[in-house]
Amino acid sequence: MTPEQIKLVQQSFNKTVPITEKVAKKFLTMLFAIDPKLKPLFADDPKGKRLMATFTTFVKGLSKMDSINGIAQQMGVRFKRMGIRMDDYMTIGAALIETLAFFQKDDFTPSIRQAWIEGYGVIASIMIRAANEQSI
Ligand code: HEM
Repeated sequence: MTPEQIKLVQQSFNKTVPITEKVAKKFLTMLFAIDPKLKPLFADDPKGKRLMATFTTFVKGLSKMDSINGIAQQMGVRFKRMGIRMDDYMTIGAALIETLAFFQKDDFTPSIRQAWIEGYGVIASIMIRAANEQSI
């Protein structure tokens, strides 16, 4: 990811801050439309509040990877134990990007979309790699 791409991701995420509840709701609707099997996983965060807080941490962390590397690895291992697989990462990534596109319409340019794909991919691959290195 280039510094410019990191900025694009952070700027477009910041636009969602004032409408965070709406974004969380749409994200979950989008997610369960793609894969209803994921519903039970989010039973104790029905409005997606924790989820949005999590995204905030990681979007900020893109410009300071040292600050999120460790937590991303830990979460990757924890998710593996919860039964979360690589496919699920694709699903979450797609739901997240389509949600942003839904709210930002024409402002969500192809270069912003590409920056998100790369940013999400950077973090997801840290998590998946940590999960795969763990034998349990
Ligand atoms: C880059 C991708 C992802 C990142 C950075 C991420 C990060 C996190 C973090 C930091 C938490 C802890 C939140 C808290 O305790 O308040 C969390 C919780 C959670 N995540 Fe993810 N996650 C990602 C992908 C996924 C995927 C693919 C799934 C499943 C489809 C998932 C499902 C969950 C669930 C169900 C929780 C709440 C349960 C728990 O904390 O044990 N996440 N995520």
